[in-house]
Amino acid sequence: FEHGDVSGEPRMYTEILEQPASVERTLRGRLDERFGTAHLGGLDMDARDLRAFRRVKILGCGSAYYVGQMGASMIEELARVPADAEPASEFRYRNPIIEPDTLYVAVSQSGETVDTLLAVEEIRRKGGRVIGLVNVVGSAIARACDGGIYLHAGPEIAVASTKALTTMFVGFSLLALQLGRVRDLSVADGRRLVNGLQRLPAQIEEILKTEDHIADIARDLADAESMFFVGRVRGYPVAREGAQKLKEITYRHAEAYPTSELKHGPLALISPKVPTVAIVPADELTDRNVAALHEIDARGGPLVIVTHPEVDLGDLHARRIDVPRNETELDPVLLTVPLQLLAYHASVHLGLDVDKPRNLAKSVTVE
Ligand code: G6P
Repeated sequence: FEHGDVSGEPRMYTEILEQPASVERTLRGRLDERFGTAHLGGLDMDARDLRAFRRVKILGCGSAYYVGQMGASMIEELARVPADAEPASEFRYRNPIIEPDTLYVAVSQSGETVDTLLAVEEIRRKGGRVIGLVNVVGSAIARACDGGIYLHAGPEIAVASTKALTTMFVGFSLLALQLGRVRDLSVADGRRLVNGLQRLPAQIEEILKTEDHIADIARDLADAESMFFVGRVRGYPVAREGAQKLKEITYRHAEAYPTSELKHGPLALISPKVPTVAIVPADELTDRNVAALHEIDARGGPLVIVTHPEVDLGDLHARRIDVPRNETELDPVLLTVPLQLLAYHASVHLGLDVDKPRNLAKSVTVE
């Protein structure tokens, strides 16, 4: 099934549609409604082990790195443990300080990406503890880690990652929940997140139903040579992933920026020819986000805003894509889904081979 599956659709498309089922598999048997927590047997760590970590360091490449950034902010929010993500390719070349009370997390769909694998080996050589968030069972990274969380997304063939990315996010939510519940996260908050996680598959389904509207916007975007993707805090890695996906399969230039940094550079490039895709969830930053987007609107920059139905965009000239709202911490994954369809339909519109983007490999296994 190298080019498309039996239905004749590109693999990326069928993988996008499989996401509700993939997410259900990632969650299966791992949620505890009574105690509002997650059970991750593969971690092989008890509450005392989990409490002992004072920092979390996440390593991955490409989309796995961007979702690692989403995971880091969830871990900080829910478990109040300092967490950050770094490209595995950079980490392993800078003689990193390996600390015994840091939990290292390697994220990889294939489990074969050489930079991530060698980062894991370097950490273990120095006595650090690494867990894997991996899709392919028995892969090199899965074997090299001390334990981990299998994603159960199902095989992902298309170069542009979709269902692996959403299930990585869900894997991070489970980890953040379990780390949070052995610390200060209350049982009520734990249950709130368990319920939120259970709602995700149906909400992804809802987004997929708005495909025609997203495809219509994608056709307009495909005509632009260059564009920005912007978001703040939880929305920033979403913007980065959206720009990455668009670049990979349309060969258009797409640059991600924190919305708050627009005035420190990118505004100079805004014109009617340079559209911006903005991530504006209903959260504590909505008003600031909308204010920043007025600066783009005032310069004639076309706007596409991925947002929640309850967000009032006032008199902004923009095309909006609404996604259903979940718990604030879990919203990033839902905001990511329309960006997959946006890139996919832009690529199809341009007549490109969606599943086989030029110059890219599904997994990079040689240095
Ligand atoms: C390649 C792919 C990306 C992917 C990255 C990491 O660069 O083109 O789509 O995100 O590798 O792959 P992994 O299998 O480690 O998640």
